[in-house]
Amino acid sequence: MKIDIISVVPALLESPFTHSILKRANDKGLFEVNIINLRDFAINKHNQVDDYQYGGGAGMVLMCEPLAKAIEHLQQTTTYDEIIYMTPDGERFNQQTANRLSLKENLLIICGHYKGIDERIRQLYITMEISIGDYVLSGGELAAAVVADAIGRLIPGVLNNETSALFDSFQDNLLAPPVYTRPADFRGLQVPEILLQGDPKKVDDWRHEQALNRTQERRPDLLEREYEGQ
Ligand code: 6GU
Repeated sequence: MKIDIISVVPALLESPFTHSILKRANDKGLFEVNIINLRDFAINKHNQVDDYQYGGGAGMVLMCEPLAKAIEHLQQTTTYDEIIYMTPDGERFNQQTANRLSLKENLLIICGHYKGIDERIRQLYITMEISIGDYVLSGGELAAAVVADAIGRLIPGVLNNETSALFDSFQDNLLAPPVYTRPADFRGLQVPEILLQGDPKKVDDWRHEQALNRTQERRPDLLEREYEGQ
């Protein structure tokens, strides 16, 4: 899968994909992330990409022409399954959306900055709008990194068996159970006996029970969702 990300602050997106799991995914040729600097598509000699908003008010808006130019340039070589705009008024991102997007071939993500992008770009090009939660970030870049990370790790072959996404929190609308590593006794706190005995069936049952308890305590809304079949 390939994800292209258009940004006015590309430096904000450099680090997340060059370490750990996503770097390995890239090295294996399973997951490619390209950052495109919107300023490369500026239309005047000042490299301008934002302008004052009609009607007045504080905050700049990303202009139509550079965005349209960038998108159309990229479309010459790539057919995108979705063109996604990162925005606090978008559809709330969750594991289900991550699962669905991880099956796509090519995604284009547009990061707004300042007051966002001109509404006509949304009308003309955007096929999906995503928010990562009910709070406001200073730009879409960190949100885009969150979305790309959540998608990238789901691509078959990216995670090995041990870290398989099948056991993640939310994958079955349950939070993950607690985990332990050595030592068995840390400052008087013991690892649960069942984990030390190593009977795989008992360990599975214990983990499922812990996951249920934890979800009941912290996120009962997830259990209700399970019954609603969401
Ligand atoms: Cl996608 N963008 C911005 N700027 N703020 C957000 C967001 C996105 N999602 C939550 N807050």
